[in-house]
Amino acid sequence: MQTTLDTSKLFPTLEGLQAIEVPQMIEQREFLCDGQLIEWQGDVTDVYSPIYYHDKGQWERIRLGSYPEMGAKDVSEVLIKAQKAYGLGQGLWPTMRLGERLGCVQAFLEKMQEKKQLIVSLLMWEIGKNRVESEAEFDRTVEYIHDTIDAVKQLDRDSGKLELSHGIYAQIRRGPLGVVLCMGPYNYPLNETFATLIPALIMGNVVIFRPARFGILLIRPLLEAFRDAFPAGVINIIYGDGAQTAGTLMQSGKIDVLAFIGSSRVANILKKQHPYSNRLRSVLGLDAKNPAIILPDADLEIAVSECINGALAFNGQRCTALKIIFVHRSIAAQFLQMFCQRVSLLKVGMPWEDDVTITPLPEPEKPAYLQQLVDDALAKGATIQNEQGGKHDRSVVYPTVLYPVNSQMRIYHEEQFGPLVPVLPFDDVQQPIDYIVESKYGQQVSIFSNNPDVIASLIDPLVNQVCRVNINTKCQRGPDIFPFNGRKDSAEGTLSVQDALRVFSIRTLVATRDTDANKALFTNILENRKSNFLSNDYLF
Ligand code: G3H
Repeated sequence: MQTTLDTSKLFPTLEGLQAIEVPQMIEQREFLCDGQLIEWQGDVTDVYSPIYYHDKGQWERIRLGSYPEMGAKDVSEVLIKAQKAYGLGQGLWPTMRLGERLGCVQAFLEKMQEKKQLIVSLLMWEIGKNRVESEAEFDRTVEYIHDTIDAVKQLDRDSGKLELSHGIYAQIRRGPLGVVLCMGPYNYPLNETFATLIPALIMGNVVIFRPARFGILLIRPLLEAFRDAFPAGVINIIYGDGAQTAGTLMQSGKIDVLAFIGSSRVANILKKQHPYSNRLRSVLGLDAKNPAIILPDADLEIAVSECINGALAFNGQRCTALKIIFVHRSIAAQFLQMFCQRVSLLKVGMPWEDDVTITPLPEPEKPAYLQQLVDDALAKGATIQNEQGGKHDRSVVYPTVLYPVNSQMRIYHEEQFGPLVPVLPFDDVQQPIDYIVESKYGQQVSIFSNNPDVIASLIDPLVNQVCRVNINTKCQRGPDIFPFNGRKDSAEGTLSVQDALRVFSIRTLVATRDTDANKALFTNILENRKSNFLSNDYLF
């Protein structure tokens, strides 16, 4: 790749910054533990935006603030408080009536909504997500919490009755699992984290939450809301290096559930650190390299449009992004021409600009990594197909369409998680099928064709390789009521509004033999509302 672009117009000048709403610096000196914002006296880590500014030829990244760099001892103390709150399942929170727990979540949600503007702004400045998508992430999270509340009420209504089988009465409900270590990804630091954190709390677990590598300060405006809405120790928020924090917690053997969205490499390290593997539950969203397969009879307008969004929304930094495109050789030239034309219309710019798609990348090392992938592909026979492809400057990498890609190239195997689009021709559809079968990943696939026979012949082999087969549609997680999961190195467990409630809980029952004495006993408990578990209270 070359660095010959004049990006002086892309990034703001120091003077230009005055006209832009840069969030106020956040020098965070507190963490949340045991219902208190505890003042941090130790080292801190600076947070820089992926957005640069320049002044008289000098370039700087914008500094956004800093956060506590907690160590092993600090997080071990937090763990003690979390365990106290759980109280081996006897604590206030795990034994509280569901309706009361939901009251806490609703109180949190109200306070969270007051912080929308600031959180959206921090999403833009910390991870470079454009305004529209940052707002969508916030709104989707709010909707997810509302939907989760509705879903758990339904679950509770469904479990409010006694079942009778083989002369045994039982009330079956879902109970909490314990202390959850919750860590989300930097590309959806709010939404994907809360999609595990909130259901974990609702089901009666206690949470230790460590924010993602980027998108850390945007949690700061919520600390008071967390503190005020939940009983002490139920939600604890820690900061610092992964090995020191998450590693220490896992090694303690006192984490009951690992909820982690990130790389399979880190997930494997964390899981192996836990000394009691049979006690640990894991809910993981990991790597993916979702392919698109474009068949000769596809509607190319639709295929191009879906592949543009699928491959390049948020610079390709979605776990569900289309990360390799197989196109039938007979239509490859036409597809590439149409695709590259659309790529050239994508606006490259700063997250606050209207209609911008390509924005600065938050990982400082990412442009160099992407360059290695491009150089490797070029050395092995690919060429860059689009006009601006291969160009980058500082944190901005222009979308780059590579063709023809082959199995010798790194981009064929590695998850680029950036705006590179590898395209390869195929003659026989068995070729992309073999790719999927042999892949380490198994999240989703997109097939483009208008021929029902062809589509049907691909659905059956592919549904046992990946967990979602999209027809003439890009790969994606939503709608959030649909199951989101993956095979092989792509995931463990299933997430969705309803499934998340299940993965953070365990079915538990109270049972008795069908005798008059036992029935009288149960009736007494139910009528006098003596138990929170054995209860036929109806949650509206
Ligand atoms: O990074 C993975 C996200 O869950 C993707 O969500 O497909 O709705 O953009 P999305």
